[in-house]
Amino acid sequence: MDKLIIAIDGQASTGKSTQAKKIADYLGFNYRDSGAYYRAITLYLLNSNVKHNLKISQEILNQISIKQDYNEGHFRIFLNDNDVTNKIRGHKVSLSVSNYAKKPEIRKFVFDQLRNSAESNSLVVDGRDIGTVVFPDADYKFFLIAEPRIRAERRHKQIDDDSVKVDIIEEEIKIRDKTDSTREIAPLRKADDAFKIDVSDLTINEVFNKILQKIKSD
Ligand code: CDP
Repeated sequence: MDKLIIAIDGQASTGKSTQAKKIADYLGFNYRDSGAYYRAITLYLLNSNVKHNLKISQEILNQISIKQDYNEGHFRIFLNDNDVTNKIRGHKVSLSVSNYAKKPEIRKFVFDQLRNSAESNSLVVDGRDIGTVVFPDADYKFFLIAEPRIRAERRHKQIDDDSVKVDIIEEEIKIRDKTDSTREIAPLRKADDAFKIDVSDLTINEVFNKILQKIKSD
């Protein structure tokens, strides 16, 4: 059987990874979280004091090895063999990731990782540019959007830390949307052939059913 690719793109905190994992489980596909690659690279570069306004040399990129593992509903990511699954979700990485993700040398690194993964697996991949740049010929493409306030409230619940205010998260989400959609390379935008879903008023299962319906009806 030919390998199939399902691309789930969209704005920050719209539940792309939740949906991508559910679909991967349902169809028995593997799952790749493209944002997690950018986050792990960001973590490495922040820890190594490599600023985002400088070109990242090939020598530095060669020091980075990232592996993703998705098994029975559990996603883990390893940076140079260390499990950084939780660390990459921290506030510091979230604040900087879009600045590093703008850089062509970093985008190429992630692009290569994703394309390699697709050689041996049918994949569900979530991100910003999966249906437009990484897999423009993906078999199915979805694009999730939602009101910033609703996304901030959902993220606030998820991080479960009352010292971080919803207003601040909302502001950060808006800034990240802006950086992601206005950058020169691979900006966040809906592919012409992607199916758009506004998840503002939908539950996780409602979104999942919409996605499945679309896949089954095509
Ligand atoms: O979970 P959330 O949607 O907030 O973010 P993420 O998927 O973990 O991605 C983190 C950041 O990585 C995004 O804000 C983008 O700046 C960048 N990213 C990207 O540029 N291209 C992708 N395909 C995925 C993520």
